[in-house]
Amino acid sequence: MWLVYDEVNAAYGRIKPYIPDAPLVQAEACPAMIKSYEDKETVRMKHRFIAKRYWKDKSTAMGQSDVLARSFDDCIDLSLGDPDLTTHQLVIEKSYEDAKAGHTKYTDFRGDPELRKEVCRFYKEEYHMDIVDSEVFICASGCLGMYLALEAILDDADEVILQAPFFTPYPQQVELARGIPIELPTYEEENFQIDISRLEELITERTKALVINSPSNPTGNCLTVDTMKRIAEIAEKYDLLVIADDIYTAFSYEHDFIPFASLPGMKERTIIINSFSKNFTMTGWRVGNIIAPDYIIKIIQQINENVVFTAPSISQRAALYALRYRKEVQLEMVREYRERMFYAAKRINDIPNMHVIYPPKGSIYLFVNIQATGLSSVEAADAILKEAHVLTLPGNAFGRCGEGFVRMACTVGKEILKDAFDRIEKMKIFRLVEK
Ligand SMILES: Cc1ncc(COP(=O)(O)O)c(C=O)c1O
Repeated sequence: MWLVYDEVNAAYGRIKPYIPDAPLVQAEACPAMIKSYEDKETVRMKHRFIAKRYWKDKSTAMGQSDVLARSFDDCIDLSLGDPDLTTHQLVIEKSYEDAKAGHTKYTDFRGDPELRKEVCRFYKEEYHMDIVDSEVFICASGCLGMYLALEAILDDADEVILQAPFFTPYPQQVELARGIPIELPTYEEENFQIDISRLEELITERTKALVINSPSNPTGNCLTVDTMKRIAEIAEKYDLLVIADDIYTAFSYEHDFIPFASLPGMKERTIIINSFSKNFTMTGWRVGNIIAPDYIIKIIQQINENVVFTAPSISQRAALYALRYRKEVQLEMVREYRERMFYAAKRINDIPNMHVIYPPKGSIYLFVNIQATGLSSVEAADAILKEAHVLTLPGNAFGRCGEGFVRMACTVGKEILKDAFDRIEKMKIFRLVEK
């Protein structure tokens, strides 16, 4: 069973939810879930040796999917965004050579200078952006990059607006940096674009930043240039920072990715979080980069020095070769994901009581509307697991506006996807009722 963020709030009687004006999910709404969770975990968590701030559950739905995937021998796991493909051999071999040649030590605190140079070159060649070396920081993953950025910019109780549905760790990352996460809902009927008046309504004198993610996890949506331009106007009007989580840029199916930071005047107020995890199928290498004004990078470096010193040296070499040989190493992989996404989206739209935006716009995820089943996200994901042995994630794990959806990750091959949808389409909730 999943226990999503709001339900955790409710279970522990948290008075103030992180979403202003939103009704608290009542504990009674999910008694079985809360009960089973409390029985198994809470007692263990409330140990005197554990800091009390961690007596509340902070786990995410994703963290529990591993256990669920093992519930059935024939389970097809569409829950996690970890690509099934291995990192390109060229990247592995070149970095292996570098390891043997001695790239096994701490690197410069801001990252391997050769990689930083390559990052600047990449932005020039791909996006015509002039990034200078002092604006680049190499970090041990996109996740850490986001945390470092938030830690660098937030004073206590500063508010950070999150484009929702969002990558599940965001709210907690904001809280770890002592900020307050504020959910900005987006909706399928608006193609998951950010509605500017809704955004403006959430801005207070404590608002410090807006987090955007395009192509998006979990919706697969891409922000249009028009939406980005309007966000830029708001950022300027209210003097906000924008944190652009640009980690799925290679998976932009409709048109080439356009960085928010490349819009006029936005480089000065944007922190780009980049990662090699998805764009180069390198999740296990734990390497990413941040691009931001140099005075922010300086603080990020200071924080990082006190956390991990540097990103892994060998992973930085791998990242260097991934960027340098991107034309060679990315093409086949992106084509494969594109085919899977289009195939899966077609299958979904052929099954009654579920649908998804077609054609897919980006990322490696499909956010599937299951409202016609009459079930909640958790109930639908549960039924799909129990009856079809296919593991998906309930949409409300990604924020309240994800209710009514399940997320499917196309991180398995087409044959396996076919098997998954062959099973799902046989389920009673996904069959038309004869009148
Ligand atoms: C939107 C988004 N941001 C960041 C990350 C984390 O990436 P990394 O592996 O670089 O930590 C993910 C991973 O799924 C993600 O979906």
